[in-house]
Amino acid sequence: MPPISATPAWTALTAHRAELESVTLRELFAADPDRATRHTHRVGDLVVDASKHRITGETVSWLVALAENSPLVARRAAMFAGEPINSTEGRAVLHVALRAPQGVRIEVDGVDVVPEVHATLAKMAALARSVRSGAWLGSTGRPIRDVVNIGIGGSDLGPAMAYQALRSFGSPGLRCHFVSNVDGADVASVLAELDPATTLFVVSSKTFTTIETLTNARSAKAWLVGALGSEAAVAQHFVAVSTNADAVAGFGIDPANMVGFWDWVGGRYSVDSAIGLSLMIAIGPEAFGEFLAGFRTVDEHFATAPLAENVPVLLALLGIWYANFWNAASYAVLPYAQELARFPAYLQQLDMESNGKSVTLDGSPVTTATGPIVWGEPGTNGQHAFYQLLHQGTHLVPCDMIGFARPNHSLPVHHDLLMANLFAQSEALAFGKPLAEVQAEGIAPHQQHHRVFPGNRPSTTILAPQLTPSVLGQLIALYEHKVFVQGAIWGINSFDQWGVELGKALANRITPELTAPDEPGLHHDSSTNQLIRWYREHRA
Ligand code: F6P
Repeated sequence: MPPISATPAWTALTAHRAELESVTLRELFAADPDRATRHTHRVGDLVVDASKHRITGETVSWLVALAENSPLVARRAAMFAGEPINSTEGRAVLHVALRAPQGVRIEVDGVDVVPEVHATLAKMAALARSVRSGAWLGSTGRPIRDVVNIGIGGSDLGPAMAYQALRSFGSPGLRCHFVSNVDGADVASVLAELDPATTLFVVSSKTFTTIETLTNARSAKAWLVGALGSEAAVAQHFVAVSTNADAVAGFGIDPANMVGFWDWVGGRYSVDSAIGLSLMIAIGPEAFGEFLAGFRTVDEHFATAPLAENVPVLLALLGIWYANFWNAASYAVLPYAQELARFPAYLQQLDMESNGKSVTLDGSPVTTATGPIVWGEPGTNGQHAFYQLLHQGTHLVPCDMIGFARPNHSLPVHHDLLMANLFAQSEALAFGKPLAEVQAEGIAPHQQHHRVFPGNRPSTTILAPQLTPSVLGQLIALYEHKVFVQGAIWGINSFDQWGVELGKALANRITPELTAPDEPGLHHDSSTNQLIRWYREHRA
């Protein structure tokens, strides 16, 4: 297949973008009374309004043609069929199997993986029920009150984000905490609040070799054993989630207290695997089942809906439109829901670790920009921080605004204000405020140009009735598939992450150098040598 940038659709989109350069959203809305409904899509409980984008029907047609000119449909079929589409690691990519219903057959190397998925869910559910009911006792005979997930990256961001999002579905009297950073301040601050006799640690690591997680887990173990006075206490206070049973046993956790998963689950696609154990303990197996059902709703839509009506496909194409044809380097995720405060961070890993790539599947350099920078904060906090740039800065930053009809709290006045802000911001971004309006308001001449809002700043608004486990699953799956589609169109491998390896290797080399006696031995560049020497001199 030729590079995507050599396809007729790409050429047409380049010309079409030039035509749209001077067309405003004001004009597009004025010309088409049905524009909002025409560009609004539905999947599951999600309503996705894409009308405030710099697009016309023709844009969408060309973008869909671009998708048709790409390997997308074949890649999607290969993913759902369990083919090893993660070619650099020779692995299948089957997060969709994690939420497949019993009875569906999904094979990896001729073996149906769905029964194993459900057996693992049953093991997680038994463990979660035991902790939630108080049947799981710590070594002093007291029930568990605090669960600490120790993991990093995909073994932290997913469960941490989802726990915060779904806290109101949790059990009172049972708290979850998340420790990820190798900075001792992280684990120390969490442990300082806890009673070891009522604490359960869930050590979550796909590989069980990740230095941050193992260091934190060792410190937690030392703290627990020191406080409870016996190594035997580990059995009642540590469980593991991993694919590496030997390393789990080597750490001192009984493999009977390990929940497994599989190499075909990527770290950033693992919140709905056993990596979600702490979340399941918090919200219960039934609500976790609703979470999985939410993913499934979007999976089914993604697998079957025509490309022109396929919501993750359309969102991916909009991202491509801005990244490749309008040179937008980033997009902002702006949840108008405090509970989704960690959703932008979660999406950073999902999107940037997946599509932050510079070579195509065959190793040749890409010919187009690939994954954008993802950033964001909950509204309305962001409004008082960086929205100035969104409205009047020189960078084009497409925004995803996410909001809910009903809050998970009982302060409706707050919620109406919050949602009014969401609607106001997307309106202001799209339509701005031209100079004539500023002048008509009698604004002093020296301020007039400063108070113009150019508008034409694109946003997608995603609404749902309420932030429930199912809706969160739908939202995550929407973005998972969006990222997949973009990777398929750019011709890159969205499922490896070699870019994290060099820093890890160098840190392993530098760690002993920090405490070694000085020269000989420092063979870095002069800057790194100097920094290490400075640290050696001052660390004591
Ligand atoms: O940052 C690299 C990475 O491999 C991520 O992809 C992964 O989510 C994270 O490290 C944690 O890995 P593990 O679950 O094996 O500890």
